[in-house]
Amino acid sequence: MSRWFNTAGPCNPADHYMLPPEERLPSVRDLIDRKAYFVLHAPRQIGKTTSLLTLAQALTREGRHVAVLVSAEVGAPFPDDPGAAELALLAEWRRFAAWQLPAELQPPPFPDAPAGQRIAAALGAWSQAAPRPLVLFVDEIDALRDMTLVSALRQIRSGYASRPHGFPHALALIGLRDVRDYKVASGGSDRLGTSSPFNIKVESLTLRNFTRDEVAALYAQHTADTGQIFQPDAVNRAFELTQGQPWLVNALARQLVEVIVTDRALPITAADVERAKEILIERQDTHLDSLVDRLREPRIRAVIEPMLAGTGLPSIPADDLRFTVDLGLVRMTAEGGLDVANPIYREIIVRELAFPVRASLPQIKATWLTDDGRLDADRLLDAFVSFWRQHGELLLGAPPTTRSRLTSWSWPSFTAS
Ligand SMILES: Nc1ncnc2c1ncn2[C@@H]1O[C@H](COP(=O)(O)OP(=O)(O)OP(=O)(O)O)[C@@H](O)[C@H]1O
Ligand SMILES: [Mg+2]
Repeated sequence: MSRWFNTAGPCNPADHYMLPPEERLPSVRDLIDRKAYFVLHAPRQIGKTTSLLTLAQALTREGRHVAVLVSAEVGAPFPDDPGAAELALLAEWRRFAAWQLPAELQPPPFPDAPAGQRIAAALGAWSQAAPRPLVLFVDEIDALRDMTLVSALRQIRSGYASRPHGFPHALALIGLRDVRDYKVASGGSDRLGTSSPFNIKVESLTLRNFTRDEVAALYAQHTADTGQIFQPDAVNRAFELTQGQPWLVNALARQLVEVIVTDRALPITAADVERAKEILIERQDTHLDSLVDRLREPRIRAVIEPMLAGTGLPSIPADDLRFTVDLGLVRMTAEGGLDVANPIYREIIVRELAFPVRASLPQIKATWLTDDGRLDADRLLDAFVSFWRQHGELLLGAPPTTRSRLTSWSWPSFTAS
């Protein structure tokens, strides 16, 4: 079976069309050589896990390191119980090592240690037993919160001085946000700030979207495997609509080759891309759905609504603005302004914000048409006046997106025939 465009979780080269992940992280090997502890933060579904999992596997294969990607996700249910979180995390990390490393590189039994010290004890024992320097990538670090997050970060900082023999040689925390922006519910401030318990980090990396040429290269892999061509205009349109957001780039292509143009002898055109976009927006898969979910948060709406209405941002806390950028919903433009990250997100956001208003409006019967389907201007005006009397207040109270669309609408000039 040929490979396919992946839209469900991290990519692997055996199953999926994929671009070489390290090209988007050019400095990462230097950091590892320099025994650095660093952060990789980037929006959802951009390729964080794919990139560092692929890198870990390459590092181990090359024979100089024992490199593993583990996840902090199972610590999420225990924000105030570091001891319970540690037990869940260490059991899970052993499982990750089991499928990523050969038998001779598996971690030793982790020593018993008091709650609050188990991560440090385990990483210490693992680093000492490993026949090569240990490199650890901790994915989904944002899943840890409050006391558990602070405890984990403090244990890592405290072990840092004893690397590379007594603690991992290099380590990365992977998440949505930079470590200084992690929220904690204790200790005065609700943020860790610059004096964070992870102030040993030397660098915060992020991951960019694909360029237009990278989108073309990814789609060309499908052409090489199946003979089906993407016309240059189709690639351009796909890039315009997605701005290279990796999941969207794959999701569009999947609709194109698996639903819209299944005959491999037919080329994919820009018009096909337009249809694929409509389907994607209608389907609202998990990734898009989770973005839409964010629109329910008042601090996110406070950033998005004025932007869509073009009214300029009122004074909004810098952290809320940064959070909306970190989520990947909006981006800084080359001119230094803010814009919705790509046209597909924009369309989804506009539809979502307008939905309550659309849903509360009545089904309208076209009383302004004559029997033979022509426009009757008097009846149209009557119908509009009565509609406005009934619903005008509701529309003026609607979010700015809807309102600005209504107020910027100008009356068509027509003559009744
Ligand atoms: N190297 C790549 N080549 C092609 N597509 C990729 C690549 N990396 C990621 N993608 C696309 O991005 C999607 C998400 O990848 P991945 O799970 O690695 O991202 P993530 O940033 O870890 O996501 P999350 O924030 O949900 O953990 C994949 O399903 C695929 O569509
Ligand atoms: Mg991930």
